[in-house]
Amino acid sequence: MSKNTLSITDNRTGQTYEIPIIDGVIRTMDLRQIKTGPDDFGLMGYDPAYMNTASCRSAITYIDGDRGILHYRGYPVEQLAEKSTYLEVAYLLIHGELPTPQQLEQWVAEITMHTMLHENLRTFIDGFRYDAHPMGMFISTIAALSTFYPEAKEVDDRQIRMQNVIRLIAKVPTIAAWSYRHRQGFPLVYPDNSLSFAGNLLSMVKKMTELRYTPNPVLERALDVLFILHADHEQNCSASVMRSTGSSRVDPYSAVAAASAALYGPLHGGANEAVLRMLTEIGHVNNVPAFIKEVKEGKGGKRLMGFGHRVYKNYDPRAKVIKQLADQVFEVTGRNPLLDVALELERIALQDDYFISRKLYPNVDFYSGLIYQAIGFPVDMFPVLFAIPRTSGWLAQWLEMLDDSEQKIARPRQVYIGVGRRDYPADRPPAYRGPLSATATSR
Ligand code: ACO
Repeated sequence: MSKNTLSITDNRTGQTYEIPIIDGVIRTMDLRQIKTGPDDFGLMGYDPAYMNTASCRSAITYIDGDRGILHYRGYPVEQLAEKSTYLEVAYLLIHGELPTPQQLEQWVAEITMHTMLHENLRTFIDGFRYDAHPMGMFISTIAALSTFYPEAKEVDDRQIRMQNVIRLIAKVPTIAAWSYRHRQGFPLVYPDNSLSFAGNLLSMVKKMTELRYTPNPVLERALDVLFILHADHEQNCSASVMRSTGSSRVDPYSAVAAASAALYGPLHGGANEAVLRMLTEIGHVNNVPAFIKEVKEGKGGKRLMGFGHRVYKNYDPRAKVIKQLADQVFEVTGRNPLLDVALELERIALQDDYFISRKLYPNVDFYSGLIYQAIGFPVDMFPVLFAIPRTSGWLAQWLEMLDDSEQKIARPRQVYIGVGRRDYPADRPPAYRGPLSATATSR
């Protein structure tokens, strides 16, 4: 008869242990009982980059990477992209259920009411160099917000928690737009609360001399759909940083700043920026085969950016939606010439044994940059555009972590491989000779 346990025989001692399997996992703390003797610390799991370690139990996002499935709170992301709005999805992620019409109305009103930033943040952003990367400004400004809302550190107070969740979701578009405007040298634009979440972002980014900015409805919807698709992705690099940082019970602004920093890297949220740079470098469909050859040869660690994923070993479901979205956007903006390069790269890669055998398919970032560029965003705004909706996902992960009685401050173990104990050389003149030093006292 089958049992939900794992039997382990330690060949060092001949002892056998029976470890429970719950929901398909063993607890690595159960390995600690496996010892060679009383002084032995006990067995640990070694898992650099958390390739096979679940760090939490979560009810937010479900991914089946082999089948290319992504659900938020059980709802397939394709259905949400078709029928929902980003703010409704943010509510779903944070609260666990879709809102009633009244709840949605109140939620949208609350978020809309909190889009303004403290005026001092104008001066703060003004302090950055004219050519500062908007993601650097975004990360720092979010961290600075913690000083404007010091009560946010009361993370055990549910009311305070939720108030700052709303503030963060509401203020990130304003910070993003102001970072962009500073970089461009344009005056900062205040939020227009008569517009939708995405429409308001477009207004704060694009408004020039007109009294009111009216967003193109197709572009406004496309941006909102991109926000839905980017809202959460379970325990990815930045979500893990959000949870780890938040596990020290720091305020959510500091934790979101840390998560944003993780997102900035080219292997994570910076990938859409890297894709556009790669497509621009390739320049023409004729150059695609040579580029693919270089990637396969691993020249200079070259990778096909926007391809491959730690979890998806199939077509990323978000990439499918984005590819369709691109056609609608290009009808309004005109075709992005780099689309042909992207389509050719995808066509060749999906037939090539190098990519097939490694299960490398387009991920969310492969086409999203082309849409952002067509809407008129410069490449260095791409990670910022990713961070705006991901803020709701990070906060959902953070809230779940705070309510999880099994969680503690994140603190991985290590396998020490350095030298053993040794003394500071007696014949070496000490680098420190000030007060309280042994040399000073004996003098
Ligand atoms: N181009 C070429 N080869 C690749 C690529 C790629 N994009 N991705 C992986 N490979 C190869 C690796 O060289 C390796 O080959 P090998 O077995 O011969 O050594 C094999 O595929 C496995 O790659 P790993 O790096 O071990 O896979 P990992 O799961 O660690 O990496 C990652 C996932 C970081 C996303 C990787 O696929 C990558 O660098 N992709 C390009 C960057 C990118 O698009 N990132 C966005 C991810 S989605 C997101 O964050 C929203």
